[in-house]
Amino acid sequence: MGIKTYDGEPAMVTIVITGRGGAGKTTLTANLSTYFASQGYKTLAIDGDLYLPKLAFHFGIDNPEINLHALLKNPSIKIDDAIYQDMKTGVYILPGSSNLYEMLNISGKRLKEIVKEIKSRFNITVIDSPVGIPFDTIPTFKLATYQIIVIELERSPIYSVRTMIENEVIKLKQLGEAYGLKIGVIINKVRESSHAIDSVIRFLERDIKVPVIGIVPFDPKVPEATNFGMPVLVYKPRTKASRGIKQCGEIMEKELFGVKRKEGYWSQLYHSVIRVLGIRRF
Ligand SMILES: Nc1ncnc2c1ncn2[C@@H]1O[C@H](COP(=O)(O)OP(=O)(O)OP(=O)(O)O)[C@@H](O)[C@H]1O
Ligand SMILES: [Mg+2]
Repeated sequence: MGIKTYDGEPAMVTIVITGRGGAGKTTLTANLSTYFASQGYKTLAIDGDLYLPKLAFHFGIDNPEINLHALLKNPSIKIDDAIYQDMKTGVYILPGSSNLYEMLNISGKRLKEIVKEIKSRFNITVIDSPVGIPFDTIPTFKLATYQIIVIELERSPIYSVRTMIENEVIKLKQLGEAYGLKIGVIINKVRESSHAIDSVIRFLERDIKVPVIGIVPFDPKVPEATNFGMPVLVYKPRTKASRGIKQCGEIMEKELFGVKRKEGYWSQLYHSVIRVLGIRRF
């Protein structure tokens, strides 16, 4: 499949993925990249979690010798030498190093220079971030178009969800807005028993005023896929998490490349929530 273009121009879009610890940032970086690659976009996934890089494991890459940390430390290394293409997905990956000593004295500013140099060669660049306020990747926000904030409901008792949203989503939203980014939230690890999901979506969209791109169900196939070194989208394309992620990818594609949706935002999301969870009512 050829590389898609928008208005005749190569689509050069940079997406940063943020959110609290364990929400699913790395999982979604790997899987959204996989979705975009499957749609014919030349896609690069960058591990911007400089202190705890884990993106490579999602593609079965085990501690590559030439990596992002090597580039950060030694500007004479060619960026291309640190980029690996995963044959199962087609995604290009710029992985981090898992050696602790390589994490000392590295700079997020240099990360921005690397992203600036490389992004024009890809249609879509997806950057994974460290937990919380993503200090390592903030410099790359200047180059980005879109911020996806990942939240998870699994470990948050429902009464604390609003507080979590107020504490975290608002800060990340303000950060993204300061850099002029388009912003969307993905709600991850949603269980069928998460009865209050509709009120969480309403709270996010109406009160916090941030669009919910989609929801991804809790699915044991997700960690299982990582154990096998592949994104769940290729490991089990039809499992419920894969279906949810694909829908998020489709909506992002429409948002980024300007394809108009027939339905309203809320109505489309409501129907996709029902489809993904396989339930009739909340
Ligand atoms: N939809 C899901 N269903 C079940 N488990 C999931 C789902 N999404 C992510 N997980 C699991 O949750 C854990 C955390 O996911 P992940 O590493 O992607 O989060 P993260 O936000 O990148 O975390 P960190 O802040 O530590 O980098 C992993 O074990 C992952 O397999
Ligand atoms: Mg992570």
